[in-house]
Amino acid sequence: MRLIHTVAELRAALAGEHQTALVPTMGNLHEGHIALVGQARQAGRPAVASLFVNPLQFGAGEDFERYPRTLAADCERLDAAGTDIVFAPGLAEMYPEPQTYQVLPPLADALCGETRPGHFQGVATVVLKLFNMVRPRYSVFGKKDYQQLFILKGMVRQFNLPIEVLAGETVRAEDGLALSSRNGYLSARERAEAPRLYAVLEAAAARIAAGERDWRGLEAAARAELEARGWTVDYVSVRSQASLLAPGPDETALVVLAAARLGGTRLIDNIEVRTGLGV
Ligand code: PAF
Repeated sequence: MRLIHTVAELRAALAGEHQTALVPTMGNLHEGHIALVGQARQAGRPAVASLFVNPLQFGAGEDFERYPRTLAADCERLDAAGTDIVFAPGLAEMYPEPQTYQVLPPLADALCGETRPGHFQGVATVVLKLFNMVRPRYSVFGKKDYQQLFILKGMVRQFNLPIEVLAGETVRAEDGLALSSRNGYLSARERAEAPRLYAVLEAAAARIAAGERDWRGLEAAARAELEARGWTVDYVSVRSQASLLAPGPDETALVVLAAARLGGTRLIDNIEVRTGLGV
C-alpha cells in the first residue's frame, strides 16, 4: 500500500488506470469504512481510500477541530483491508486558493441541511474535487449518510460524471447502533442510550410495512419517544427513496430518516421500508 499526499504523485500512480475504485473518508476509520473498502476492491482496482477532514462541510461551532485525526492507525487498517493507495492530501493541496468554487446541490437545505447549512455544499465540493483528482470508475459511500449518498448520486448523474456510485450497507454494533466516527464522543451512559435511535426507526418502519400511511403521526410519535428520553431531535422524517421528498400517494419505496443529539453528539440513522410489504 502506498501513502500519497499530493495530486501530482497520485496522478502518476494512477496513470493508465481505468477501473480505479475510490472510498472517500474523513479518517478515524471503523468497520463500516473497511466494509466499503471491501466493496470497492470487488468493483475495481486499484482501490484508493482518501483521508481528508474537510473544513468546508463543518459549520461554525461544529467538531472540525476536535474531529479525530488518526492517520497511522487508519493506514494500518487500510493496508490490512487490501487498499492499494491511501490519498491523504493536506489542506493546501485540497484548497490551494483562499476563494473556492463550491457546488450547490439540490436538497442541500433539507433534512440535515436545515440544521447544518452549507454542509452538503462542502461535501459535494470536496467529493467533486476527489473525483477529479483520483478519476475513479467506481466510488463507494455508506447508506448511513443517506442524504449524502442521494446528493452525490444526483451530482454524478446531473454533471454526467463517468463514475458509478455504489452504496454500502450500514454496519451496526450488536445492539443496533450504526457505526460512526462520532460514536467515540459518547459517554458510557449516552452509548447505552444511543441504540434507541435505530429502535425508534425500526418501530416506525414496522408500522409502515403493516400499512400505516399517516407519516406525520409516525414522525411525531418517534420524536416524542426520543425527546422523552432526553434526546434533542433535529428531525424524524418519512421520505420517498426516489426523490427524498415527502412520499407521493402511490410511492411504495420509502425511507425513514432521523438526526438527533445525545448531549453534545449528533447521531443520524435511517431505515428503508416498503409500504405494506414488510421491512
Ligand atoms: O462521509 C464522509 O466521511 C464525508 O462526508 C466524505 C464523503 C468523505 C466527504 O468529506
